[in-house]
Amino acid sequence: MIFRALLLWVGTVAALSTKGLYDLVERRLPGHENDFSFALDDGYRFGGHDTRLLNDTYSISTAQNGTIAITGNSLSGLATGLHRYLTDFAYVDIHWFIGSRLEQAARNLPHPKTTIHGSSVVPWRYHFNTVTFSYTSAFWTWEDWELELDWMALRGINLPLAWVGAEKLLVEVFQEMGLSDTEITSFLSGPAFQAWNRFGNIQGSWGGELPSSWISSQFELQKKILVRMTDLGMVPILPAFTGFVPRAFPAIYPNASVINGSAWEGFDADYTNVTFLEPFDPLFAKMQELYIHKQVEAYGNITRFWTLDQYDENDPQSGDLAYLNSTTLNTWKALKAADPSAVWVMQGWLFFSNKDFWTEERIEAYLSGVEKDEDMLVLDLFSESQPQWQRTKGYYGKPWIWCQLHNYGGNMGLYGQVENITVDAIASLHSETPPIGFGLTPEGQEGNEIVYDLLLAQAWDSTPISTASYFKTWTQVRYGPKAVPQDLHTAWDILRTTVYNNTNLTSNAVPKSILELSPNITGLANRVGHHPTTLNYAPDTLVAAWKHYLAASHAFPALWENPAYQHDAVDITRQVLANHFLALYTDAITAYHTFNASNSSTAYATLVEKKADMLTVLHTLDALLSTLPQFSLSSWLAAAQASAGNDSAEVAFFEYNARNQITWWGPGGEIADYASKSWGGLVGGYYVPRWEVFFERGVEGRGWKG
Ligand SMILES: *[C@@H]1O[C@H](CO)[C@@H](O)[C@H](O)[C@H]1NC(C)=O
Ligand SMILES: *[C@@H]1O[C@H](CO)[C@@H](O)[C@H](O)[C@H]1NC(C)=O
Ligand SMILES: *[C@@H]1O[C@H](CO)[C@@H](O)[C@H](O)[C@H]1NC(C)=O
Ligand SMILES: *[C@@H]1O[C@H](CO)[C@@H](O)[C@H](O)[C@H]1NC(C)=O
Ligand SMILES: *[C@@H]1O[C@H](CO)[C@@H](O)[C@H](O)[C@H]1NC(C)=O
Ligand SMILES: *[C@@H]1O[C@H](CO)[C@@H](O)[C@H](O)[C@H]1NC(C)=O
Ligand SMILES: *[C@@H]1O[C@H](CO)[C@@H](O)[C@H](O)[C@H]1NC(C)=O
Ligand SMILES: *[C@@H]1O[C@H](CO)[C@@H](O)[C@H](O)[C@H]1NC(C)=O
Ligand SMILES: *[C@@H]1O[C@H](CO)[C@@H](O)[C@H](O)[C@H]1NC(C)=O
Ligand SMILES: *[C@@H]1O[C@H](CO)[C@@H](O)[C@H](O)[C@H]1NC(C)=O
Ligand SMILES: *[C@@H]1O[C@H](CO)[C@@H](O)[C@H](O)[C@H]1NC(C)=O
Ligand SMILES: *[C@@H]1O[C@H](CO)[C@@H](O)[C@H](O)[C@H]1NC(C)=O
Repeated sequence: MIFRALLLWVGTVAALSTKGLYDLVERRLPGHENDFSFALDDGYRFGGHDTRLLNDTYSISTAQNGTIAITGNSLSGLATGLHRYLTDFAYVDIHWFIGSRLEQAARNLPHPKTTIHGSSVVPWRYHFNTVTFSYTSAFWTWEDWELELDWMALRGINLPLAWVGAEKLLVEVFQEMGLSDTEITSFLSGPAFQAWNRFGNIQGSWGGELPSSWISSQFELQKKILVRMTDLGMVPILPAFTGFVPRAFPAIYPNASVINGSAWEGFDADYTNVTFLEPFDPLFAKMQELYIHKQVEAYGNITRFWTLDQYDENDPQSGDLAYLNSTTLNTWKALKAADPSAVWVMQGWLFFSNKDFWTEERIEAYLSGVEKDEDMLVLDLFSESQPQWQRTKGYYGKPWIWCQLHNYGGNMGLYGQVENITVDAIASLHSETPPIGFGLTPEGQEGNEIVYDLLLAQAWDSTPISTASYFKTWTQVRYGPKAVPQDLHTAWDILRTTVYNNTNLTSNAVPKSILELSPNITGLANRVGHHPTTLNYAPDTLVAAWKHYLAASHAFPALWENPAYQHDAVDITRQVLANHFLALYTDAITAYHTFNASNSSTAYATLVEKKADMLTVLHTLDALLSTLPQFSLSSWLAAAQASAGNDSAEVAFFEYNARNQITWWGPGGEIADYASKSWGGLVGGYYVPRWEVFFERGVEGRGWKG
């Protein structure tokens, strides 16, 4: 008990200190260590155990001693105030892929002449999808995490998911329950597939086993992440025990209530149908208590939020209302027994993805098993396109968060819904069942950073943000701190009203380019759903934006030394080439059909010509992408290899795992190309050969006749 009390005390003191903010300044703004002062107001939010629902606030002013003084009612408020200063006065920021540009701030920082106030409009700003930990950060180093956490803190995120290293203590729980190491290892999935193992979608690994060295090193990484999150005013959401257990469990506990879960995405039963310990079984509560207590001992009592998803793309064994109700009631009781202050956080994805099963009646039965509304927090995962909060009357009273999903599998197309994430997010606040937070739940953090920034900015503005002025400021900061040419503003303004303004929600997430799909004479273009390829804008408008973007460097050649300009030049050009590939493909297929029907030699000549053009585009694209590490396959593979131990078999397994995720996705190509990428090396080394084989059969071989 004394140990616990001490941990609590340490946690509280850490949460009170503004040291985390000073450390951030020291890390990212060398030479400016003495330029800022941070102070908490009276009545501040004190972190993970403050149950009050308060909006965060900040004020920025110039103190008498000349420092830029930032005060606020929480560490997250202070961090957001610092961000507001850095973007609005110094024109610098931290960006995904590009890194921190804060060190570019002027030597003599401008001083605000008046006091600037800010207040969030929601108490919580949430970040991450469970699967982001596999699609994006699977092989991140501590340095990668440091950058991400600074990015998050500055943008006011105060409620992040924290999945890293979850296996370490879960393995200990399984060991204490009497499972052997072999039995446990055969349950765990590879480093690039842990998210779906955590969800109970899959079990086991193909191509190699998850090594214990990885389990330990990820746990060490998690400890650093959690300290940093806490220092920066974030309340981590930690994993709870879900009920998914190794296959051998029923052999050890023959009387336990254990069932086989449903099959996922066509995986073989060995890899799916994950064994599930029913929450009404007393062993469930026992394992929950073990798992939670181990985490509190390891990390301190730093949170009351626990993530727990039992049916994410898994069907419950029964749709019976009493069964569903008892599942949640018992899960909730077990959680509260382990942590009396616990809040159960769940992704609401299932209510959309398995809508046929999850009728309103069943959702109500399921959610109402949690007797106290405030003990649950539902993430309305896809609010910008497929909101479920209206049909569930605001999750029947459970607090919920308005989230932007936007991205499947780390797909890379340019895409956004600027109207929706401003207008609709604010409209939800005026509904009868307003959310208590706004959040980001992308499957992968692959680009389109502006739409994530925009929703997080909206969390600090009570009326829908004017996107015209937002994009203008954003562009200045993106390529700042020097003044940016008008052409850049023009380029982004074109994108704002076209590429980033999809309002046709038939296709409602980041599209992938057809060049990343298995070649076919049919079925590639205009796909909707989970492998979307639909372009929601006229390709010409993107070309117009691209021309302005490049023209900006005619007047300002120094832009080519700016990493943000380089990054976006590759990204926008990538999309221009991908769209051109689609146009060539469409022409080629038309020519093919003409040729097939009439044997026309003109049509055949067109087909041959389009084929050559398509391959040229792919080679050009590959060369373009290879100019930057963040668009290169080699970076992903090198990170995977580097995160393995010294053992060469382990290194090879990690590389295989990394390759498998972005190509075959499964031992037998179960969801092939779902997480495809336009990356240098992958385009040239994988997609090009696929298209060549396709053309060899169809054009040279005059095949494809059906
Ligand atoms: C400067 O003034 C601010 C605001 O009063 C205070 O918080 C900070 O500690 C002072 N810094 C120094 C170096 O005196
Ligand atoms: C937060 O601010 C919004 C917008 O001003 C307001 O509607 C809401 O009631 C506030 N929430 C709390 C908990 O104070
Ligand atoms: C399982 O239940 C049976 C019948 O009630 C009982 O005889 C047996 O001892 C139980 N086994 C265990 C391991 O609890
Ligand atoms: C679950 O699946 C395993 C492996 O396919 C099988 O051996 C076992 O009998 C199944 N258990 C139940 C309860 O259906
Ligand atoms: C796996 O789940 C599917 C239902 O999704 C079921 O049809 C099948 O029998 C299950 N297999 C095992 C081994 O439990
Ligand atoms: C952590 O501390 C809070 C606040 O004192 C308390 O309510 C909660 O039960 C503690 N959690 C655990 C798991 O001990
Ligand atoms: C579910 O369980 C809760 C708590 O025991 C109860 O209040 C509620 O009426 C039940 N709802 C349904 C639909 O069974
Ligand atoms: C946002 O999406 C919702 C759900 O699909 C839709 O009803 C609404 O019209 C959209 N709003 C805007 C402004 O695009
Ligand atoms: C987005 O498109 C909608 C529908 O065409 C239009 O009403 C709205 O003004 C557009 N918004 C922007 C920012 O272009
Ligand atoms: C919306 O998009 C779908 C899918 O691309 C398309 O079939 C439909 O025609 C579009 N609707 C409008 C009104 O443009
Ligand atoms: C091409 O697509 C069709 C229709 O979706 C499908 O039946 C066929 O198997 C695909 N061919 C190849 C080679 O993938
Ligand atoms: C090509 O033509 C043949 C008949 O000449 C026809 O059977 C086949 O369906 C056609 N293929 C396609 C893809 O249209």
